[in-house]
Amino acid sequence: MVRTEKKYGFGIIGCGAVSKFHLDAVQNIKNAELIAVCDISEEMSKRTAENYNCINWYTDYKQLLGRDDIDIVSICTPSGLRRDIAILAAQMGKHIIVEKPIEVTLERIDEILSECEKNEVVISGIFNLRYNKHYSLVKEAISSGRLGKLILGDAYIKWYRSQEYYDSGKWRGTKTLDGGGALMNQSIHFIDLLQWMMGPVKHVFGEIATLGHHDIEVEDTAVATVKYENGAIGVIEGTTAAYPGIGSRLDIHGENGTIVIEDNAIKCWEFRDHHPLDLKVQELNMSKHAGGMADPLSIDGSLHQKQIEEILDCISKGKKPMVNGYEARKSVEIIHAIYKSAHSKQLVNLPMDRN
Ligand SMILES: NC(=O)c1ccc[n+]([C@@H]2O[C@H](COP(=O)([O-])OP(=O)(O)OC[C@H]3O[C@@H](n4cnc5c(N)ncnc54)[C@H](O)[C@@H]3O)[C@@H](O)[C@H]2O)c1
Repeated sequence: MVRTEKKYGFGIIGCGAVSKFHLDAVQNIKNAELIAVCDISEEMSKRTAENYNCINWYTDYKQLLGRDDIDIVSICTPSGLRRDIAILAAQMGKHIIVEKPIEVTLERIDEILSECEKNEVVISGIFNLRYNKHYSLVKEAISSGRLGKLILGDAYIKWYRSQEYYDSGKWRGTKTLDGGGALMNQSIHFIDLLQWMMGPVKHVFGEIATLGHHDIEVEDTAVATVKYENGAIGVIEGTTAAYPGIGSRLDIHGENGTIVIEDNAIKCWEFRDHHPLDLKVQELNMSKHAGGMADPLSIDGSLHQKQIEEILDCISKGKKPMVNGYEARKSVEIIHAIYKSAHSKQLVNLPMDRN
């Protein structure tokens, strides 16, 4: 008997800038099919449908969610406009892919996650950089104990976003819809990577400021010290005010080695001993990878595709994807802990409900 692979019907909700990466991925994945798109702007919805040869377009997500031929939705609306959509999607039995951050508060995220559990649907938060080969090799080295005891885990994200960027959408730079600034929108990718590699965060002490922009409600600059549960310490520095945007760096130091990843490519890989993984690292293209340091869309679209492929594979096997909802929640909690610390001038413990 010839087994035919299930084709997953996709609906894309929110047809703005980031939706392109979801639409391109769906177009390129052989067991995925674009069924419908939706945007509150009729023009955006219609134009996106035309661009991707899709006959179904909506301006009301409830109509899209009402279709039986949609198995999975990608939610690409502004960050603080996802809860109601995700909850209804879960109730309608749709699996959910949601852009980062899942939502803007832990309460709203928890409402979504509990509805997904209740309805037994998979939810995954997009953290596309985890699918970059350089970061997966770093994760492999740390998990296999190559670095020994971890000492320091630092993230520096010195990016730039112009005032025009913030003015380009009413939701950008607002507390309710962006949920935060340089940390919640941009540095979150690297905060996710840091906690993925270094392990859970025990406490943070933060300072935030708005220094390079006017007319935004959120921070454009932040620093925090971090203590990890394994005893290691580190710093996070994130900004969107460092003209012209010099890039990102993660520094991981252990008692037996150091790894530095600059603009998503391994720059330093030094260990006391040799290991077969070193050959894999040597084979990599060590040039800097597109990173969004000044342009939010100058990112590597193939990583969205890799993540969506992994999500489909997990759904078909009844497994949880690598960045399941609880995993995607972690960076948002670290960021809220930094905000709370900056406002209270106190050290904030995680999980936050233990404070
Ligand atoms: N993974 C990444 O690297 C990456 C890159 C860019 C943006 N993002 C994330 O993607 C999200 C969207 O960002 P963007 O830059 O595409 O924003 P955008 O403003 O360009 O697009 C958002 C779209 O959602 C639409 N929309 C709003 N409410 C809606 C609703 N109820 N139903 C349907 N459509 C609705 C808007 O009309 C708009 O077209 C943000 O959360 C952002 O953090 C992720």
